[in-house]
Amino acid sequence: VPVLCMLNQKGGVGKTSTCHHLSGTLAAMGRRVLLVDLDPQASLTQGIWGPQATRGLDPSATVAAILAGDEPFPDQLVRPAGLAGVDLVPGSRRANSYNVPDPHTLPLDEQLRLRDFLDAEVRARYDLVLLDCPPNLCLCSWAALSAADNLVVPLQAEDYGAQGIIDIQESMALVQQRTNPALRLLGFLIMMYEARKTLHQMYDQRLRSMYGDAVFSTRVPRAAEFPEAIAHRKAVAQYKPRGAAAKAMRVLADEVLGRLDAADAPAKGVA
Ligand SMILES: Nc1ncnc2c1ncn2[C@@H]1O[C@H](COP(=O)(O)OP(=O)(O)OP(=O)(O)O)[C@@H](O)[C@H]1O
Ligand SMILES: [Mg+2]
Repeated sequence: VPVLCMLNQKGGVGKTSTCHHLSGTLAAMGRRVLLVDLDPQASLTQGIWGPQATRGLDPSATVAAILAGDEPFPDQLVRPAGLAGVDLVPGSRRANSYNVPDPHTLPLDEQLRLRDFLDAEVRARYDLVLLDCPPNLCLCSWAALSAADNLVVPLQAEDYGAQGIIDIQESMALVQQRTNPALRLLGFLIMMYEARKTLHQMYDQRLRSMYGDAVFSTRVPRAAEFPEAIAHRKAVAQYKPRGAAAKAMRVLADEVLGRLDAADAPAKGVA
């Protein structure tokens, strides 16, 4: 069962949005998806259940229990997201206490708590697991990278600071050395794309010339349906199934599944 980590230490690039809408689209395609909200801001959980329900959660019923080393039972944490086929391990502000810098200097068991939780008897129940990370490279993201086998990096087509990508590549290399040699980059994903903006076209071309196939062919367009659907506590596939945003997510879901299949297929000499 593939575990995808959605990571960029830059804020507001669309990590949470991608987890939310992709889970809805995959569910509509008949797949079982587990979402794990590793962000102490708990935006994914708020988008699914609303702010009040999220604030009211006991930390022992959230991802914080995993990070704390409480070794929670799956049934304490894994809850139906409200859409058939999608479950959620909710986030919590409490996770902030565990989201320390330089996570690779912590005892190894603390780095691997999320992976141990998922591996025990959780991930096998799903077709796909999606990990939503906070916008930093502290323990929560490190734990996600250590638990995942595939990394997706959402990027905004306006962010010309190449440093962001370099930091992510460094973290990925460090994780591969220390905790998770199997981690691979599934792809860079251009988010909130506006085809008519020259700036976006230039960014797109430059990214593809630098990273080639590592960039998803699918670009997620900027569209009001994405935030609107979340305001209605839905994913676009359920909110406006025939809309352009839902269609874009279907194309993305197909590409994600295709890339996962290709990556799992016997090597054909392609790096
Ligand atoms: N394709 C899109 N079109 C329009 N708005 C979008 C799109 N994707 C995301 N947004 C909006 O942009 C904002 C930031 O997106 P999101 O919260 O997914 O980013 P993030 O990377 O998870 O942020 P953070 O770093 O704070 O966790 C949200 O208000 C979201 O609804
Ligand atoms: Mg987020």
